[in-house]
Amino acid sequence: MITFDNENKIFKIDGKNFSYIFSVNSKGILRHLYYGKSLKAYDVSSSSDLGFDWSRTYLDETGAERTYDDNYYNDRSLAEIASHGLMDKSGAPVIVRKIDGSTATEFTYAEHRIYRGKSTLETLPSSHGDAQTLEIVMSDRFGDVRLTLSYTVFDGLDMLVRNTRIQNAGKTDVTVERAYSLEVDFPESEFDFIHFHGDWCTERFAERAPLINGMHRISSNFGRSSHEENPFGILCRKSTCEQSGEAYAFSFVYSGNFALDVNVDKWHRTRVLMGINDEDFRVVLNPSQTFEAPESVAVYSDSGLNGVSHIMHDFVRENLITYKNAKLLRPVLFNSWEGCYLDFDTRSIVEYIEHARDIGAELFVLDDGWFGKRNTDETSLGDWYVAKDKIDLDRVIRKCKSCGMKFGIWFEPEMINPDSELYRAHPEYALGRRDMERTLSRHQLAIDMSNDKVVDLLFERMSDILEKYPIDYVKWDHNRNIGEIASASAAYGETYHRIIVGTYRLLGRLRKKFPDVFFEGCASGGGRFDLGMLYYCPQIWASDETDPVQRLFIQYGTSYAYPLSTMGSHISKNPIMSYTGKGNIALFGTYGIEMNPCLLSESERDEVRKINGVYKKYHADVIANGDFYRLLSPFDGNYMSVMSVSKDKTKALVLFANLLKENNRYRFVRLQGLDENKMYTNSLDGKSYDGAYYMRVGLNFSVWLDEFRTFLVILEESK
Ligand code: GLA
Repeated sequence: MITFDNENKIFKIDGKNFSYIFSVNSKGILRHLYYGKSLKAYDVSSSSDLGFDWSRTYLDETGAERTYDDNYYNDRSLAEIASHGLMDKSGAPVIVRKIDGSTATEFTYAEHRIYRGKSTLETLPSSHGDAQTLEIVMSDRFGDVRLTLSYTVFDGLDMLVRNTRIQNAGKTDVTVERAYSLEVDFPESEFDFIHFHGDWCTERFAERAPLINGMHRISSNFGRSSHEENPFGILCRKSTCEQSGEAYAFSFVYSGNFALDVNVDKWHRTRVLMGINDEDFRVVLNPSQTFEAPESVAVYSDSGLNGVSHIMHDFVRENLITYKNAKLLRPVLFNSWEGCYLDFDTRSIVEYIEHARDIGAELFVLDDGWFGKRNTDETSLGDWYVAKDKIDLDRVIRKCKSCGMKFGIWFEPEMINPDSELYRAHPEYALGRRDMERTLSRHQLAIDMSNDKVVDLLFERMSDILEKYPIDYVKWDHNRNIGEIASASAAYGETYHRIIVGTYRLLGRLRKKFPDVFFEGCASGGGRFDLGMLYYCPQIWASDETDPVQRLFIQYGTSYAYPLSTMGSHISKNPIMSYTGKGNIALFGTYGIEMNPCLLSESERDEVRKINGVYKKYHADVIANGDFYRLLSPFDGNYMSVMSVSKDKTKALVLFANLLKENNRYRFVRLQGLDENKMYTNSLDGKSYDGAYYMRVGLNFSVWLDEFRTFLVILEESK
């Protein structure tokens, strides 16, 4: 519910459990007042300002010294949208350079409207659903820039979605040097900050540390949201844990360069800013042109970090993903990559299909290697024609369909190998300067998605494949970080942004033309796991790391922001534990299979079939669409335990795993999210207890533990 108190000039946005409040003062400045647990009203007379009142004067145009009656002073007041180039030096969300070179901006209120619903963005993904929106138009008192801030609150969800549009309302060009999407000021600094950093095969490792004075930035300038930092961060009270306490989380509906700045200034004000990374970002706006920034989201939870995840997960599933069948049980996916890499032919793939079918696969995905002359990774990205001398795709797909399986295929549309027909014909389609040395990564360059011709060409070539062959699934990969940015079609400072917009355009057009095709995202594993990609691709390959022990960490970290239904997780040939053990872990994501299936023994096949059985029986209700809880963190100790409960609380799956060996000791794991009064039978000791028992006493894992053991416990309501 969003209201405007005209008398006191207060905007109040109420979610299910939070209030977000700011006011307009007599100067037209938006003053941030409060963000936290629901409040009935905010008393402006006891203003959140600092407690002294000297040195708050201004010299007006007539030469008179004046103060504002609400004690507003530009350097220390909490801001809703901080000025730039004045006295507040804690970071502004928007920086615009005008024709005279000046960058001073101070935005003041012009008008607002509150309406049911939510508008969509023109060039970028945006969330949807039953909601109410506040739009405020601001003008810059130093010049002709207009800013439109929008705030959307979805019905029943503690999520605030924000967006900023910057318009040149003057007569000369202006340059937007920063266009962040979110600012939140807190009148305190006693927070811990949690972020999710990593690398290839170690994506989204959670790290928590107390905030200290000064600026802390997590960011990507790699041309994608990156393995290195995920566009997601949490501020929480020091006492907040998984199950209780207050937390705020911030995320970004965008797949390119981002920055999340958390600045504790000398006033112990904490300012959170999030948006497109302003390094290598400049956009020139001609008179009347507008720049739309991506959406950002802010979550408030007073039920711990699991509470944050519940809100994020519901938001992603209900208000972000656009694929119509995303909630249905997905077919058991078999992927060819780790089994044979690029080394296959029609005969070997047909054999794979037979064996994959035998172990219960329902969707066969032919990964990299089916196009151009792709027998090594040094060639052919860009040549999206079937390598007919290598693979008879008609026959392969016929084989799949005759086995009752769906068929999927791999693309890496945003990349080009210098050794490709496309590059030889159009070297200008690659990013970077051709007159200089360019850094290759996996022998490839990024393609210039800011160029409409490139997007059209890729659309045609991909459409051609998707039309000619009955393809049910596309794995959309992106295998390099991007540097040395230069484009033949976009200005330097716009290129990083425009290549992402081009990617979205291509994805959007393909999704529209092939609404039944399921798209899974990927970027050297999990290098682009973000809300922007999830809008188009309801599932993302979480990591190239299929070692199940590493996966305990990767999936645990990923779960903070992203629902399990989005997390591609496969069992592989990794020998560190049995298929059952690997399956127990992979089931806490969107389970799939990836190895040479011909090499499996009969008993391993049986193990895989049993895992499939659990997947089919419980995945949709419990894992994909249920409520997920982290119980014990592998980042903090020797155990990892998580669980997921169906929304109707009749079924739950619990995973418990240990890393190092341990002798016998007491080891009870207390569960979460069950109905206290329901009786549940558990598959660990076969007995029935009520929900309260499981949540207060717990499941008893007090046994001798060899290294890397896993337990999957199924709870079902006993009637
Ligand atoms: C990336 C992906 C893998 C696989 C290979 C193919 O590394 O993450 O899953 O598709 O590319 O080249």
